Amino acid sequence: MDADALERFLRVLAAEELLVEGPIGTFGLSLVGAELCRDVPGSLHHFVELMVGESYAAWAGAGHSLRTGEPAFASVHGKPYFAWLADRPEDQRRFNDGQAGLVERRLEPLLDRDWSSARTVVDVGGGNGRLLSCLLARQPHLRGVLFDLPHVVDAARTADGLEERCEFAGGDFFGEVPRGGDVYLLAQILHDWDDAAAVKILRRCRAAIGPEGRLLVVEQVIREDGRPHPAKQLDLHMLVMLGGRERTESAWRRLLAEGGFALDSVTVAARSALIEARPITHQDEEER
Ligand SMILES: C[S@@+](CC[C@H](N)C(=O)[O-])C[C@H]1O[C@@H](n2cnc3c(N)ncnc32)[C@H](O)[C@@H]1O
Repeated sequence: MDADALERFLRVLAAEELLVEGPIGTFGLSLVGAELCRDVPGSLHHFVELMVGESYAAWAGAGHSLRTGEPAFASVHGKPYFAWLADRPEDQRRFNDGQAGLVERRLEPLLDRDWSSARTVVDVGGGNGRLLSCLLARQPHLRGVLFDLPHVVDAARTADGLEERCEFAGGDFFGEVPRGGDVYLLAQILHDWDDAAAVKILRRCRAAIGPEGRLLVVEQVIREDGRPHPAKQLDLHMLVMLGGRERTESAWRRLLAEGGFALDSVTVAARSALIEARPITHQDEEER
């Protein structure tokens, strides 16, 4: 590296609190910077790799999203993001690892809910299984079903903590979602899609879930107060990468209702929100 250029980069990283600047020319890791190390629990290393790879290039096309409301990703990379990943095992692995690094930050409201009456959790779009394995470790009475695209599920089969109490199901959540669960989990799935596609996924879950089942959505909730919030930036990222969006609580309520679910509660934690919903039954509709 060029010493002068390196020092100028490091100086900016120190100003952003990723490093601590010592006596002239020395820098150390700050607590925030340490989260970018490769091998720390909940490492954000892979997530940053994702952001500087295909995501950074996709943002060059953000003007396309602004003009059309469509994702820039396909106009820059030639294919929708998930199809692009399916052709590239190494990028797919990086994507899964990047998501898994974020899982532990989002888990808090999910792990803290009362799981005593649940038996089988179907994690719809569960990626490499990190979330499910954390949940099964905390709740020894639960069984899990990891459902995702076939090539993603195949790569997840060896994930730690999933061997004994988990089934693996490959498929397309626009086609069919596995039946037999009493809790269906959609963690960071619906924000990948526009409303029409998100409603289709919800209806597939509605078709699979029993009348007493519960749907748990782990997502962001955009505050409607005009103040800065990271979800507002993530919302644009979802637009540029996937044509998806973050949603306000009222938008979640409407979307869930269109998909056949009634919103029961929203628990907002530091890094994510847990939205609980139950299936709308014929009886509910008759009562209305
Ligand atoms: C943003 S990741 C979320 C992963 C995980 N739930 C989490 O919380 O980190 C979206 C997931 O949706 C999966 N996915 C995309 N399209 C799908 C489809 N048509 N059917 C099933 N899974 C799909 C992707 O493979 C990916 O694992």
